[in-house]
Amino acid sequence: MKFFVDTADTAEIQELEATGLLDGVTTNPSLIAKSGKDFKDVIAEICKITNGDVSAEVAATDFDTMIKEAQVLRAIANNVVIKLPLTFDGLKACKQLTSEGTKTNVTLCFSANQALLAAKAGATYISPFIGRLDDINLDGMELIREIRVIYDNYGFDTEILAASIRTANHVKDAAIIGADVVTVPPATLKSLVKHPLTDKGLDAFLSDWAKTGQSIL
Ligand code: E4P
Repeated sequence: MKFFVDTADTAEIQELEATGLLDGVTTNPSLIAKSGKDFKDVIAEICKITNGDVSAEVAATDFDTMIKEAQVLRAIANNVVIKLPLTFDGLKACKQLTSEGTKTNVTLCFSANQALLAAKAGATYISPFIGRLDDINLDGMELIREIRVIYDNYGFDTEILAASIRTANHVKDAAIIGADVVTVPPATLKSLVKHPLTDKGLDAFLSDWAKTGQSIL
């Protein structure tokens, strides 16, 4: 399973990249606004930190302007992935960009039929939003399960990128179902390593080791 971080905060990306566990980055217009930085500058900065795929979202809603924006964004770096909304114009743009060899991430997916359309349009990634479905008392993880079955039924290459991840359990459940990628906010990603018994066990080992008076080096 690939791990992407869902942020435009370059300090956080740098810290996670240093672990060697990061496979890419996703951004969206809200995360760009939160960064307070120029969109193209921050995408360029992120692409220098990581060689993994970096999703940059178009702001237009019509096909022609989406394509023009995609041309500008993909010129920033080779690892830019064009993020497109799940609309007919977005799917049309996805089909065209895919045929030109540009990687795409179709975002704001809330149903299995939408995911089916994105796969037919040749999307590199489909982004089903788990947390936002849970927020309205629907089952976000059930959507991941349905898409996995449909994509496997037909051998679609589109990778399931589980998005809108809010908890460590979301990551675990998406992994059990077989999502190809999770995109996770930095704090949630860092929380995956934590377990109270790990901390307790390490404290005990360190204290017993100190009693031996030995040193490995
Ligand atoms: C995905 O690409 C989106 O950027 C993101 O996961 C949305 O998450 P949210 O619903 O927590 O805003």
